[in-house]
Amino acid sequence: MAIESDSPYDEIAGMYHRLWNDWYLPAALPALERLFFSQVAAGAKVLDLCCGSGHVTKELLARGYEVTGVDASAPLIEQARRDFAGADFRVQDARRLHLDERFDAVLSTFDSLNHILTLEELGTVFARVKDVLAAKGLFVFDMNLEEAYSADLHRWSVTVDDVNVTLVRGEYDTDTHLAETELIWFSKAPLPGNLWRQHRSVVAERCYLQPDILLALSEAGFSHTEAIGAAEAGMNSELGLGRVFFRCRL
Ligand SMILES: C[S@@+](CC[C@H](N)C(=O)[O-])C[C@H]1O[C@@H](n2cnc3c(N)ncnc32)[C@H](O)[C@@H]1O
Repeated sequence: MAIESDSPYDEIAGMYHRLWNDWYLPAALPALERLFFSQVAAGAKVLDLCCGSGHVTKELLARGYEVTGVDASAPLIEQARRDFAGADFRVQDARRLHLDERFDAVLSTFDSLNHILTLEELGTVFARVKDVLAAKGLFVFDMNLEEAYSADLHRWSVTVDDVNVTLVRGEYDTDTHLAETELIWFSKAPLPGNLWRQHRSVVAERCYLQPDILLALSEAGFSHTEAIGAAEAGMNSELGLGRVFFRCRL
């Protein structure tokens, strides 16, 4: 029986998988190499938290880790299961993460934790991660800070190929610190008459202050935390603008 979910990624899962496939990972690889891969031995049990359709899971598997991937969107997890038989994928909300096993390391990439919309809930996610992490385990994640969102000018960016037209625009409210990305995707349906199907979704993210993130980590029990700017970590692309990597141990 198919597992249902109610994520803003559900309607646009196909587009997300296709359009973002080769974007984040190549840019983030030097940073992940330095902060994560070099610190976690092959064979270790790794949780890919908010794994989406598995763009980073693929790299974890290639490096010989025993991988579990968790994401709130069932269609993204279905896509990941189709592509990567070597990992154990689960549909779960990070705020209610419940896994019986313990992990040597937890990785959460591509500002996934900015999708947690209140500081209280972000603290809950950190506490759930602590619960599934082995005693000397490593937790690495990246989040966008204000500089990343203030670059959003509410202008459409358009991508076109033979069977897809994708429009994306971002908007950031400096008072509420909430960002919205509106995605409209037209895909040519395999039907007579060259019909196009429209999909639309709005993905919300919250911008946090770095001291608030560090305090929430400390309150969840992480006593060794470092915040490293993406460029300093080795991510030299526009995707590194305003992005910070956090490396944490209990
Ligand atoms: C920008 S995507 C990043 C996906 C993947 N980490 C990558 O690097 O390609 C953000 C992901 O976070 C997931 N997500 C957002 N809120 C979540 C939550 N509360 N629990 C679990 N997953 C969540 C979304 O479904 C989406 O797959």
